[in-house]
Amino acid sequence: MNVSKIIFVGSVVSLITLFGCGLSYDAERGAEDMELSTVHPEIWPAIDNPVPVDPEIEGRIDDLLARMSVEDKVGQVVQGELRHLEPKDVQTYRLGSVLNGGGVQPFGKKWASVEDWLALADAFWEASMDTSDGGVAIPVIWGTDAVHGHTNVFGATAFPQNIGLGATRNTELIYEIGRVTAVEIAVSGLDWDFSPTVAVVRDDRWGRAYESWSENPEISRAYAGEMVRGLQGQAVSEDFLGGDRVVACSKHFLGDGGTANGVDRADNRSTEVELRDIHGAGYFSALEAGVQTVMASFSSWQGLKMHGNRGLLTEVLKDRMGFDGFVVGDWNGHADVDGCSPESCPEAFNAGVDMFMAPEDWKALRANTIDQVESGEIPMERLDDAVRRILRVKIRAGLFDKGKPSSRPMAGKTEHLGSPEHRSVARQAVRESLVLLKNNDGLLPLERTQTVLVAGDGAHNIGKQCGGWTLTWQGTDTGNEDFPGASSIWDGIKTVVEGAGGTAILSEDGSFRSRPDVAIVVFGEEPYAEFQGDRETLDYGFFRPDDLKLLKTLQNAGVPVVSIFLSGRPMWVNPELNASDAFVAAWLPGSEGDGVAEVIFAAADGAVHKDFKGTLAHSWPKNAVQEALNIGDEDYDPLFAYGFGLTHSDNVNLGKLPEDRGGSIPDTGRTVYFRGGPVAPWQLFVGDSHFWAVKTVGGNASTWDRDNLVVTAVDRELQEDARTARWAGYDLAHVYLEAAQAVDLTAEASDCMVLAFDVMVEEVPSASVYAAMRCGEACEGQIDITEALARSTVGEWRTMKLRLPHFADAGADLSHITTPFLLATEGTLALRFAEVRLEPAVEDDDPCE
Ligand code: BGC
Ligand code: BGC
Repeated sequence: MNVSKIIFVGSVVSLITLFGCGLSYDAERGAEDMELSTVHPEIWPAIDNPVPVDPEIEGRIDDLLARMSVEDKVGQVVQGELRHLEPKDVQTYRLGSVLNGGGVQPFGKKWASVEDWLALADAFWEASMDTSDGGVAIPVIWGTDAVHGHTNVFGATAFPQNIGLGATRNTELIYEIGRVTAVEIAVSGLDWDFSPTVAVVRDDRWGRAYESWSENPEISRAYAGEMVRGLQGQAVSEDFLGGDRVVACSKHFLGDGGTANGVDRADNRSTEVELRDIHGAGYFSALEAGVQTVMASFSSWQGLKMHGNRGLLTEVLKDRMGFDGFVVGDWNGHADVDGCSPESCPEAFNAGVDMFMAPEDWKALRANTIDQVESGEIPMERLDDAVRRILRVKIRAGLFDKGKPSSRPMAGKTEHLGSPEHRSVARQAVRESLVLLKNNDGLLPLERTQTVLVAGDGAHNIGKQCGGWTLTWQGTDTGNEDFPGASSIWDGIKTVVEGAGGTAILSEDGSFRSRPDVAIVVFGEEPYAEFQGDRETLDYGFFRPDDLKLLKTLQNAGVPVVSIFLSGRPMWVNPELNASDAFVAAWLPGSEGDGVAEVIFAAADGAVHKDFKGTLAHSWPKNAVQEALNIGDEDYDPLFAYGFGLTHSDNVNLGKLPEDRGGSIPDTGRTVYFRGGPVAPWQLFVGDSHFWAVKTVGGNASTWDRDNLVVTAVDRELQEDARTARWAGYDLAHVYLEAAQAVDLTAEASDCMVLAFDVMVEEVPSASVYAAMRCGEACEGQIDITEALARSTVGEWRTMKLRLPHFADAGADLSHITTPFLLATEGTLALRFAEVRLEPAVEDDDPCE
């Protein structure tokens, strides 16, 4: 196969040069003597800020600062979240900013209208301008995660996630996407987008891999500036931050995509040179384009949390690279700095975070920060510097002059929200992002006039094709009715085929009466966001074994199979590739699913209609343990190299691939069932005697309208890492974890392991409560835990441990466990649980008998 013609040769060469220069730097400085976490600002580029310091603006800031009290100033550096404040608080506490978190809409309405968004934006704005209680009028700035379009808003255009955009290699398109996103944000009256994510993912197990355009820093560099220009407009022009533009934010500074083992928020152990050349690349072009804000990363570098890293935030970003906008923290990210809590962190502020993102605890944080300024722990100059930066951005963005949100030129122009013009930009992005990995015997492009069977649970599932950060934080818990104006992949196929006189049949499970000419199977990962998407393996079949069965059934019936694979990362899919004649990596294409059909079908006359253009921006693994696989690696040996992608005319047949996963099955799901959320393949369900199973997603089971058991996500140490379960007591109800594939726990049982889970009783049980393990339908072992719960101290976390053999004694078949954890009662009870796992028993374990 002719790979060389499609590889991005330029970037390979420049990567090598980059690393080369890194080595010579180390040699010169005698790296071994240096502390790994010491920064050397002089090795970072000095960047020409395209937005000149304007003496008039600075004078205006001087005047404002002179009139502001310490309280006024500290208010500016604190940002609270929609669910945790009222507009009135913005006035009372002089807060400078608000955000809506992922999946948070005004008044708790998933389908909030543009009028709702504007009404709330007006209310916040009015509160910030109201000085009847004193203070200085400074317009509030509202930030939102429009990371693939303005996707917290009902009816907005959802672009392919960054991973798909990387495959397009089209910088003009990136600019257009930024421009369109800004327009849709302006329609809703918001000011500020927490985008672009310029992360360079280096280990595809990372839950945010799909937010990364590429493993190659060259792409991050080529794209970041374009996205910033699209969002903010061209610096030094009338257009800059004009009426249809918004403030951009490149994130997460720095090194988020390079954490050890792809664990979200963990430690990046790169050298300073790698940090600069791999993870810094996107910031260089974002700064060259005049990005006005930067978000600090949750992760750490060489053991030091980024929110507390003065060297990188202040000496490198601000002093060396000339960034004169402001640094916003990430969601309570300051709390992870040594010595800090969500409510207090002078360390982060002194290190260079200018605005705390303090969703829930903004009030206490504000009070403590005021004290810290008064005691001198936070120098007044530091506070003035942070406030100056925030005011500078607000003035540049015209917030002092734009008037209230609903009065701005684009506000309320709903004809621009999800408009046909915007959707056609997204559809183009879909077409260009598709990467053709296999096309044996030239199966694609397909003729339109055939009988086409469309199968797989991704075929008519817009939420699944959008991924995380879409209406909900995790991107779960949506249905097609949540996406007016959008199309599923099936919708597009149906239109194309029926329009040409062919027959299209949707059959999710692949069953058919008479044999179709071809089957298109759309399958892939379930949506996720952030740490909840971290995986311990890239073995796709480990999580979703049934998709392979579906492909094989069709293959065995002699039907040619086209696989459309939806995923937030490259995965090991050799068995699925073998069971397909053609295979398309479609990533997470967003709201315009019909773009897929435009490429996989020929024109009505049989000629190629739109060809494949996408090429891999992330190397594709040859086995399941090639997790950190990146172009430029010394022993680079992928299945499909960076830059690979077939077109319709490539005459390439892919032979049968080895199906050996290349390493032992990881521990995933064998010993940890719930950590931060259900650990895949386990999923959390609620049910009662009427409805056995209702899946909960992002913590809440919103399709569950029965209140005999309400399960909601709550924070213990991380966001939504625990669940509260509250039983109302009028029917037997249960909450449990289940997976499609059973696990064999007999070895663990003979090792005398225990099922351990952390639990906090909120309200003691009124009737008996049992924990159970299940082994398929009508196979269960129950252990009574009523007394253990009743003995617990209300409001205190404790770990409950149940011995595996006891479940066996009670009837569970440990060789075939489908539910390792279930709690049920007929009475009233309220408790929280987190961290459900197996662990070795120790002598003094309370067996909870
Ligand atoms: C994420 C950010 C996001 C913020 C606000 C954080 O958890 O890391 O990317 O902008 O939440 O929703
Ligand atoms: C919130 C999201 C937010 C995320 C940040 C979640 O608890 O629901 O809105 O973006 O935390 O990690």
